[in-house]
Amino acid sequence: MPKDPEIAAHPHGPGHVAIIMDGNGRWAQARGRPRLFGHHAGARRVREVVEACPALGVKYLTIFAFSTENWKRTQVEVAGLMSLFRRYIAKEMQAIAVNNVRVRFIGDRVRLDTKLIALMDQLEVQTEGNTGTQLTIALNYGGRDEVARATKRLAQDVADGKLRPEDVDEETLPKYLDTCVLPDPDLVIRTSGEARISNFLLWQSAYAEYEFIDTLWPDFTAEELSRLCQSYGARDRRFGAVKA
Ligand code: FPP
Repeated sequence: MPKDPEIAAHPHGPGHVAIIMDGNGRWAQARGRPRLFGHHAGARRVREVVEACPALGVKYLTIFAFSTENWKRTQVEVAGLMSLFRRYIAKEMQAIAVNNVRVRFIGDRVRLDTKLIALMDQLEVQTEGNTGTQLTIALNYGGRDEVARATKRLAQDVADGKLRPEDVDEETLPKYLDTCVLPDPDLVIRTSGEARISNFLLWQSAYAEYEFIDTLWPDFTAEELSRLCQSYGARDRRFGAVKA
């Protein structure tokens, strides 16, 4: 029995939820605090959401932590976020992983610092055998960048004679994406009232259902996730077909 009666799986709830965690800056600003204060509050929210997943029947959770465009922020904010990720992965994620959570990272690691990359690698290896919630953290991730990197690798395989151009189709290309081992997201949530997808999981979300909600990320709760999963369960997904 789940602890909280409001948190329960819908029989047709989403198996894979992806979240664009937006609104940390505005949350901090509303309190007269620096933006990083909001990012720290946002990071604390992640645990509650990850821990709610099993009761909601959400097997895969993918969260957008840092985009390829986020480097355009001030040096102070970028450095603060990188330091937050390092600390978070080293400490908080250990606590999360105890509950059989498997953690993966997607995105381009090239621009990240070596200490952060080492922590990411370590957490991936450490949680490799975990069979509970499959948590994917998108860090220095951009959908277009991912498709470009995938295409580069695919082109190399063609050049090396491992793949024939005529065999490239909708089944082949996703095998080169960072998400190759994950199912497509069923539900994509964006917090903070912005109705954009901001380069998140472009290929993978072709048939996802979207929820754009006003809540700022640091205020997002497991109850709200539960409500969105219930509402998803009531939707009729046809994938372009006509209902029989
Ligand atoms: C968007 O809010 C949020 C981010 C760019 C960073 C997301 C990071 C976290 C929630 C923290 C930690 C996550 C992990 C996995 C450790 P914003 O700054 O764009 O807010 P604004 O639109 O109000 O300015």
